[in-house]
Amino acid sequence: MSSTATTEQVHKALATVQDPEIHRPITDLGMVKSIDIADDGTVSVGIYLTVAGCPMKGRIEKDVTAAVTKVAGVTSVRVELDVMSDEQRKELQTKLRGGQAEKEIPFAKPNSLTKVFAVASGKGGVGKSSVTVNLAAALAAQGHKVGVVDADIYGHSVPRMLGASDFPTKVEDMILPPTAHGIKVISVGMFTQGNQPVVWRGPMLHRALQQFLADVFWGDLDVLLMDLPPGTGDIAISTAQLLPTAELLIVTTPQMAAAEVAERAGAITAQTHQRIAGVIENMSYFVPPGGGEPLHLFGEGGGQTVADALTKTLGTTIPLLGQVPLDTRLREGGDEGTPLVLSDPDTDASKVISGIAESLVGKPRGLAGMQLGISPAGR
Ligand SMILES: Nc1ncnc2c1ncn2[C@@H]1O[C@H](COP(=O)(O)OP(=O)(O)OP(=O)(O)O)[C@@H](O)[C@H]1O
Ligand SMILES: [Mg+2]
Repeated sequence: MSSTATTEQVHKALATVQDPEIHRPITDLGMVKSIDIADDGTVSVGIYLTVAGCPMKGRIEKDVTAAVTKVAGVTSVRVELDVMSDEQRKELQTKLRGGQAEKEIPFAKPNSLTKVFAVASGKGGVGKSSVTVNLAAALAAQGHKVGVVDADIYGHSVPRMLGASDFPTKVEDMILPPTAHGIKVISVGMFTQGNQPVVWRGPMLHRALQQFLADVFWGDLDVLLMDLPPGTGDIAISTAQLLPTAELLIVTTPQMAAAEVAERAGAITAQTHQRIAGVIENMSYFVPPGGGEPLHLFGEGGGQTVADALTKTLGTTIPLLGQVPLDTRLREGGDEGTPLVLSDPDTDASKVISGIAESLVGKPRGLAGMQLGISPAGR
């Protein structure tokens, strides 16, 4: 007796399986090669992987098996893996880019709905990366689709702070970023061996940044955060050139010396014609365990000083967006890969950062105005 399962039913079941990295149904991605149903109800499914040795192949195999097993009349499932040809990969790539073969930075297009913030500082070590990852996590928790570019080519620390230990997958010349806590992350650290220092300069840096922005498949992001290296070097200038609409977030400590340097970093936007979204003061105060008066370990007033000075220099109001207290758990969260805003959202530092996130982006946008690149299966 022949099985009651039909190819159409199996195809429908396969449409529920998503590629773990592209987050789209495998049926839409040209990954289903064949479906064969034997008389005894054994179903053989041929699957094209995007690349040979795809790190996700175990997961895809499991998901396909689970989905097809549910179809009535199926007695067992066999998954046969194959790899896409160059031709097929190119096709997929064009499809993912919404039919555009030409590589361009999606966020630089005039109709882009993605808000881009570049996190900058004058001095190093003021907490740019910590602020970036916690802002990213807060935004993701608020329901936004968030990506982070670790543009600190020399001191890349974002992947560790977000616990993003996976490597990106390459499909042709497109890079699929790993995800951590729902945030897409890309860093130069993912493209170097071990802890090797990177000695790229000017043009190479520009090219690397261009690649992170254009070759990485970011999908439809609400917010892109960029963690810049300290100071006003090549990367800051490249950012301004590649993403003229990016708004700067200036991080400073309350210390006056730090504030002066931060102010200089901010004032450069008068030349690069970038907007400054505001100033974030980090390490503002410390509340001793058990409570008591807040201690101003690094002085007071730096953030407001920078905001006031930039307001005067640039002739437009630059707000102080918030003052983030010192909290040892914020550092520990960074070391462990779980941002404090997720592990302890009710602590003061988390609340300040979540408040800043909300003031920057507002509520998540709905489906209206969203570009759904590929039409869903079963149309
Ligand atoms: N509010 C805070 N409370 C406690 N520790 C903090 C806070 N902000 C940052 N830190 C710690 O301070 C150190 C420097 O922070 P971070 O690496 O985020 O700074 P950065 O500006 O990105 O530095 P760099 O210029 O080296 O990239 C880290 O160890 C971090 O965990
Ligand atoms: Mg950093």
